[in-house]
Amino acid sequence: MKLLITHAAQLITMAGHTEKPAVKEAMSKLDIIENGAVYMEDGKIVEVGTTEALLEKYGKSVKNDEHIDATGKVVTPGLIDPHTHLVHAGTRENEYAMRLEGKAYMDIMEAGGGIHATTRATQAASHEELYEQSKKRLDQFLLHGVTTVEAKSGYGLTLEHEMKQLEVADQLGKDHPVDLVSTFMGAHAIPMDEKENPDVFVDRVINEMIPEVAKRNLATFNDVFCERGVFTPEQSRRILQAGKEHGLIPKIHADEIEPYAGAELAASVGAISADHLLRASDQGIKDMAEAGVVGVLLPGTAFFLMAEFAEARKMIDAGVAVALSTDANPGSSPTISLPFIMNLGCLNMGMTPEEVLTATTVNAAHAIGCADQAGSLEPGKKADVTIFNVPNYLFLSYQYGMNHVDTVVKAGVPRVVGGQLV
Ligand code: NIG
Ligand code: FE
Repeated sequence: MKLLITHAAQLITMAGHTEKPAVKEAMSKLDIIENGAVYMEDGKIVEVGTTEALLEKYGKSVKNDEHIDATGKVVTPGLIDPHTHLVHAGTRENEYAMRLEGKAYMDIMEAGGGIHATTRATQAASHEELYEQSKKRLDQFLLHGVTTVEAKSGYGLTLEHEMKQLEVADQLGKDHPVDLVSTFMGAHAIPMDEKENPDVFVDRVINEMIPEVAKRNLATFNDVFCERGVFTPEQSRRILQAGKEHGLIPKIHADEIEPYAGAELAASVGAISADHLLRASDQGIKDMAEAGVVGVLLPGTAFFLMAEFAEARKMIDAGVAVALSTDANPGSSPTISLPFIMNLGCLNMGMTPEEVLTATTVNAAHAIGCADQAGSLEPGKKADVTIFNVPNYLFLSYQYGMNHVDTVVKAGVPRVVGGQLV
């Protein structure tokens, strides 16, 4: 299987960040080839260069249907979404209406809604129902240019139902063109009927769930919602430490609603990423930069919860490698549009158009440990390529609320053509 893409107005390679994520000024430096081309074989990128050079080398050996003309378009690495709650059942539009009338997100959760509402729906859903609902969302991710998605459990909250979520993610990863990277997040909420004895639940996560997830190899990462009223920093540390002992790499929902020293914890426990960080402290930001923890920012959540945005500018200037993500979930960020998240990154967090591209490609790959295979157009990496029907990359964070994706190639195979799934 061969594929040659030529005549890209701009081919953005994102090259040079396989070993380490881009930080500081490097986040703003894009490696752009004008009139660019990329040649792929057997699912891998073989060569990247100018149209002239690659046409001369490979033009004769490819058939008509193995050649995509990207005249007037922008070609980027397939986008990567490093933080989603993809696998869940149901919707929460009723809570949205309540919030518009002034109810707070955490109060709704404390009263048994929020994560608990989605947990009830997810527990009640069969494997097949969960699969079908999640597959539809994954199709939408692909249509929006995303070729790798991280997916968390955390709406099961019992061994059985957490496993069900992870099994669905595992199956989807096998069946669907989009690559899935799984995170166990049994510590997403304390079940309503265990509120009085949270440590009993924490012990169950540590002693029953984590060993089973690890034994069945159903996740790469272990995440916890470290937040006042959910898991304390001490409980979070225990859970992340236990995961580490079973080979699960720590991630953390940190400082989302209130400052809670989550960023500091991420650094001290050696997390691969700390996510949200709306209220991260200066000390936490410094610690993250020093420890090399990727900051995954989710401006869709701040937008949708009508909260203050994370201080991306401050983090980037302090040397934190910043990535961006949708946080796709039915409560705090019901979207699958990573391109819209790029707009928010620029307009509400002070990032540059170059930085948001870095944050949704190479740095996103580092946030989920797959930069050796994805996140840039470089020889040897997976042939994951997105073609946008725009004349230059500024459009990616300029025109908002519309989908500019024309073509998505996943592992060398066109999966979206002319904006449609094929
Ligand atoms: O990342 N903060 C915790 N978890 C999700 C929200 C989940 C939900 O509301 O269903 C988040 O925002
Ligand atoms: Fe989340």
